Amino acid sequence: MKLLAVESSCDDSAVAVLDEYGNATAELVSSQLIHSTHGGVVPEIASRLHMTVLPGLIEKVLKIAGTTTHDIDVFAATAGPGLTGSLLVGLSWTKAAAFAVGKPFLGINHLAAHLHIHYNSAVEFPAIALLASGGHTMIFHMLSWEECFLLGTTRDDAAGEAFDKTAKLMGLEYPGGKAIDILAEKGNPDAVTLPSPLGSRKLPEFSFSGLKTAVRLVWERGDVSPENLSASFRKTVCDLLVSKTMYQAGRLKAKSVLVAGGVSANSLLRSIFSFECGRRGISVFLPELKHTMDNAVMVGRAALSALDSDPFAHSDYSCNTFPRWHGKHLSPLSM
Ligand code: KG4
Ligand code: ZN
Repeated sequence: MKLLAVESSCDDSAVAVLDEYGNATAELVSSQLIHSTHGGVVPEIASRLHMTVLPGLIEKVLKIAGTTTHDIDVFAATAGPGLTGSLLVGLSWTKAAAFAVGKPFLGINHLAAHLHIHYNSAVEFPAIALLASGGHTMIFHMLSWEECFLLGTTRDDAAGEAFDKTAKLMGLEYPGGKAIDILAEKGNPDAVTLPSPLGSRKLPEFSFSGLKTAVRLVWERGDVSPENLSASFRKTVCDLLVSKTMYQAGRLKAKSVLVAGGVSANSLLRSIFSFECGRRGISVFLPELKHTMDNAVMVGRAALSALDSDPFAHSDYSCNTFPRWHGKHLSPLSM
């Protein structure tokens, strides 16, 4: 079985061909670097670049996988949440290709896709999942891959957004999570005491906008080095993410903790999760670095998960994009 997956929800065009076990026979990502000069993603530029890049990227991936659209058995693309113009490019191409060769098409939820990067790993349930990216910060309770329930989200900024805004304040490139992570390695995490809004570990909700303001006030004082501020900020965010996730893992007797999304690339976050899960005897699942950011392998695995629970699973051609997800029960299929 061959599955072609396409992701275009924000500023990364990504394509992958997967086998029935979720292994990628070919995968490519093309990131739109131009947004760094604007300090954030410009939606119109993003959708136009997807239109320019995606057809060639798909052709290349098919070539690497040694196949053509005629040999693909299932087609999947992200339907949302994300930027409408960007989503439309990947979704429309994929629907059209599936229609042309008469094969099923699946519209995939991007948030479920991030968690499904761990689909072909030995995850034991119940599990607690943390999704921390540029647009989302959410904790889920998973009883199985199909039974995934939202416990809490952020009331304002996402964790990745907080990293990006802190980086921008210090004159670093967009997106700035990685740059802060690198600077933080040379700083003292106890140099500055920052507030931990909604700090109770029992509350599975987040708020990062007050932290962002506190960081700005410290930075404007001018007496703290970028290294020390980065280290203190990184530690504050990671402590919030880990303590809230681990509290839910204990409360709901989780056997596994899954971490996903761009912020799961953070080196401190990865080491604290490994330590905390290790000492509690809970298995921790951290994505390979290349799969922390938006990619098409996670989209393909989410589609496989939907097909494993229902071999006839598919989306109608009327499946549309959606900018936000406000549900409680997260499923791989968008509708
Ligand atoms: O999942 P992703 O690629 O896109 C979204 O769906 O948002 O996540 C991108 C986010 C950005 O905010 C970026 O700054 C953050 O992930 N990020 C990091 C690191 N690498 C990327 N945040 C903290 N530490 C990192 N090493
Ligand atoms: Zn994402």
